[in-house]
Amino acid sequence: MTNPGNDPYLVCSGLFKIYKVADLEVVALRGLELSVDRGEVIAVVGASGSGKSTMLNILAGYDTPSAGTVHVGKFDLLQMTNKEVVEYRRQEVGFVWQETSRNLFPYLTAYENVELPMLLTGVPSKEREQRSSELLEIVGLGHRRDHKPGQLSGGEQQRVAIAVALANRPPLLLADEPTGELDDETASEVLALLNNVNSELGTTIVIVTHDPAISTSVGRAVAIRDGKTSTETTRIVSFERKIGGEASETEEFLIVDSSGSVQIPRDVLDQLAIHRRVRLGVSDGKVTLESGE
Ligand SMILES: Nc1ncnc2c1ncn2[C@@H]1O[C@H](COP(=O)(O)OP(=O)(O)O)[C@@H](O)[C@H]1O
Ligand SMILES: [Mg+2]
Repeated sequence: MTNPGNDPYLVCSGLFKIYKVADLEVVALRGLELSVDRGEVIAVVGASGSGKSTMLNILAGYDTPSAGTVHVGKFDLLQMTNKEVVEYRRQEVGFVWQETSRNLFPYLTAYENVELPMLLTGVPSKEREQRSSELLEIVGLGHRRDHKPGQLSGGEQQRVAIAVALANRPPLLLADEPTGELDDETASEVLALLNNVNSELGTTIVIVTHDPAISTSVGRAVAIRDGKTSTETTRIVSFERKIGGEASETEEFLIVDSSGSVQIPRDVLDQLAIHRRVRLGVSDGKVTLESGE
């Protein structure tokens, strides 16, 4: 949920990314807006090619946008020196890739994989030991600590990958299709784990996925289409849910970008015969749009 009065933790505004391939320009992001509060779990949901990985790589500090602004905590991602980029990647963000094999070193045990990021940042051995064991417990794999990735299932590997990503206590966890290679049941377990990490450690989590079903497992789901966030769905905690029931409804909103634009769904435009322009009305605290021919 957004907290009015508190600055959001992560803000992308008017984000553009243009890839140049030979003479061709590919616009991967076109004015993307995203705002995430500290401690939120959100999913960015979109079809293949909609710009999800491009956005996540920018948030991870692996890539820079062509235009726009990105702020995460105290970091302005467009103004960072090389030294700050290194600091940002080591301290602020943890990253989980879709490909289970890309997250872990195959010749290291689960424990050694989790310990490695702490070795790189000079964490003392006692603390490394304690943190690695604690993280393996959090992801439910204390009993698999000496197994190498090849001796773990896909779901277990992703759970170790989450522990690795959390090793240096990053406030932000980014996950690119973390359940993409898993069956439905294992995928739900990984999502439940991410929610658990969020509530136990307070980590802000951004998951990108092509799977709309994930929307029901997160607090807020933002749709991305053609490099632009267009709508978002928020789960409403209903009265029944508060008293222990399962009911939870969702409500869909249009996103207003930094220039005040909203994207009206194509079927609505067609239904109301809205083409080139609209007449704007404001009354009773509501905005109406009607076809201006
Ligand atoms: N390195 C790149 N060079 C050129 N085009 C790219 C590159 N990376 C992504 N694209 C293009 O940008 C668009 C968005 O890609 P991507 O962010 O990977 O989408 P998604 O993760 O949603 O599938 C696609 O059209 C893709 O082909
Ligand atoms: Mg992708």
